[in-house]
Amino acid sequence: MKTALTEMLGIELPIIMAPMFLVTNTDMIVAAAENGVAGCIPALNFRTIEELEAGIKDIKSRTNKPFGINLIVNKSNVLAKKQLYKCLDLGVNFFITSLGSPEEVIRESKKHGIRVFCDVIEENYAKKVEDLGADGVIAVNSGAGGHLGNIPASVLVPTLKSKCRIPVISAGGVGSGAGILSMLALGADGLSIGSPFIASTESGVTPEYKQACIDYDAEDIVVTTKLSGSRCTVINTPYLKKIGTDQNLFESFLNKNKQLKKYAKMVTYYKGMKMIEKAAFGATYKTVWCAGSSIEFTKKIEPIQEIITRLKNELETAKENLNKVVG
Ligand SMILES: Cc1cc2nc3c(=O)[nH]c(=O)nc-3n(C[C@H](O)[C@H](O)[C@H](O)COP(=O)(O)O)c2cc1C
Repeated sequence: MKTALTEMLGIELPIIMAPMFLVTNTDMIVAAAENGVAGCIPALNFRTIEELEAGIKDIKSRTNKPFGINLIVNKSNVLAKKQLYKCLDLGVNFFITSLGSPEEVIRESKKHGIRVFCDVIEENYAKKVEDLGADGVIAVNSGAGGHLGNIPASVLVPTLKSKCRIPVISAGGVGSGAGILSMLALGADGLSIGSPFIASTESGVTPEYKQACIDYDAEDIVVTTKLSGSRCTVINTPYLKKIGTDQNLFESFLNKNKQLKKYAKMVTYYKGMKMIEKAAFGATYKTVWCAGSSIEFTKKIEPIQEIITRLKNELETAKENLNKVVG
């Protein structure tokens, strides 16, 4: 297949394995790369700059195929600058930026010939990052796992395609070959797929989290503001039902207070991330598992190679089925 994304990164399939906080690890990146997909790992999945360096070196020693690093570029990430310059030093193929301004990342990456894709949820911001020199936008739609957008892919992708000159990569809600074909039909130059890889053999999260991706379906995904202060998708486990998805009166009072807002957000974020971390890696009754509705298509824990082979086979079937209908 040839799209602007496959050409830009030199990959077989127009797919990025999306960065997932705590979930993505170096084994997943290598497996994706060796199977024609470019994986992207959040820099924050490495606790220190030394660990980031070791991780990048590890990936590079096991594959020479492209991979990317996800940088959170707002104030919450105090390591952002160090992460950026370490990656530039060691050499990575692309960055995905989320939150905050990607200006410095784009400017510095250009000097090193590194591609930069920026998360966007609407047109104005997409045009802004295009003007800054981004190589593409990751169009995060309302079906995405993690911090989701507000606009469905069927509207967001064609809108961005008509307003931007740079490639548009659709993120959210795709876990089947037919889903991939539908995004390409909307005009997407590629896809960024996350949730369907959570239950991969290579992922380091607990077997319980992986099993939850199999046992729960699209209808069990709810949006909560309790974890980071921003809207985020989680599996509606009994524990989640108990704590609810809305901030309590005290939390929303703090969030509305001009002076306290900033600190309240920081505390919510810190507590939420700790809770997600505990649930991802240890046995706890506080089952706060982040995932999107595309876990609907997760039927077993399997190696990334098999997930990608399934997507490829389904894509062929979807093309044949479509041909029968439209000729
Ligand atoms: C568990 C989880 C963690 C995520 N963490 C991040 C992150 O650290 N940085 C980021 O830019 N996006 C993050 N995302 C969003 C994904 O990169 C991507 O946009 C999303 O997975 C696409 O929707 P999908 O899950 O339906 O494929 C996360 C998504 C999930 C499900």
